[in-house]
Amino acid sequence: MTAGDGDAQRTGRPQLVCLVTGAGRGIGRSAAEALSTRGHRVALASRNAGELEALASRLPGPAMSVPTDVTDPAQLEGMFAAVESAWGAVDVLVLSAGAAAAASVVDTDDETWHRMLELNLTAPFRCIRRALPSMTGRGFGRVVVVASVVAKRGEPMVSAYAASKHGVLGLVRSASREVAAHGVTVNAVCPGYVDTPMTDDSVEKIAARTGRSLEDSRTLLATRQPNRRLVSPAEVAQTILLCVDNGAVNGQGINIDGGAVQS
Ligand SMILES: NC(=O)c1ccc[n+]([C@@H]2O[C@H](COP(=O)([O-])OP(=O)(O)OC[C@H]3O[C@@H](n4cnc5c(N)ncnc54)[C@H](OP(=O)(O)O)[C@@H]3O)[C@@H](O)[C@H]2O)c1
Repeated sequence: MTAGDGDAQRTGRPQLVCLVTGAGRGIGRSAAEALSTRGHRVALASRNAGELEALASRLPGPAMSVPTDVTDPAQLEGMFAAVESAWGAVDVLVLSAGAAAAASVVDTDDETWHRMLELNLTAPFRCIRRALPSMTGRGFGRVVVVASVVAKRGEPMVSAYAASKHGVLGLVRSASREVAAHGVTVNAVCPGYVDTPMTDDSVEKIAARTGRSLEDSRTLLATRQPNRRLVSPAEVAQTILLCVDNGAVNGQGINIDGGAVQS
């Protein structure tokens, strides 16, 4: 029995109710698969209903898809309401919906800046604000935000993205202190380069900008990490499960980057 299952039994529920944003592909999809394999109920949110339905149909446990644009507060409320009316309050909230934008500081326009903050910082804030009261009221809850190693250090060409990820780690750290005495934890996982469609997109942009082949561009990203390979989405999902299982881990930003950032 895992610690998470024990807590579920303590609250009289056979399975935890999990809500994963960004579940259609990449890290969110792997997190949903890992939670479902543990026997939990998993609600899947992102904008692409087709990707969500395809995933829901092949998960081993109960699943529901809730197509949602997380930057729209009305849709966010609808997402929580749909899960609550089907299964009850959310026990485990995994926030993986996100995107990056590449530009130097001087070339970052206001639209890009606001888009990064809305998606990577304000949407997680609204989700956490919405989920915490029922978690603290029931004495159990787990929130895991997929941040990034650029939540901890700066990199060139990603200032808006890095600002949003630094911001979300501050949100996680503060929120965790508010709820720690109520059986609720709030953590972030901080991956380096992960083998997902987001990284495929970065590889294509590097190839277009530099004239390198796609293979060389992928190797360039992989070899920026000390273990000289991309992180797998499953390795990030394992760390998300750790945050779900272990109630003593709280307020952390856990690096998953082959050893690049040591903090
Ligand atoms: N890949 C990496 O190397 C890496 C490294 C560090 C951190 N991260 C972080 O990890 C998270 C997941 O990244 P990934 O690599 O899995 O990316 P991905 O493969 O591009 O998947 C992103 C997911 O987020 C969803 N999403 C994007 N905008 C959304 C919106 N407005 N509303 C709802 N869902 C939205 C996408 O679905 P729709 O487009 O259908 O909505 C998709 O399901 C992101 O927060 C990213 O910043 C990634």
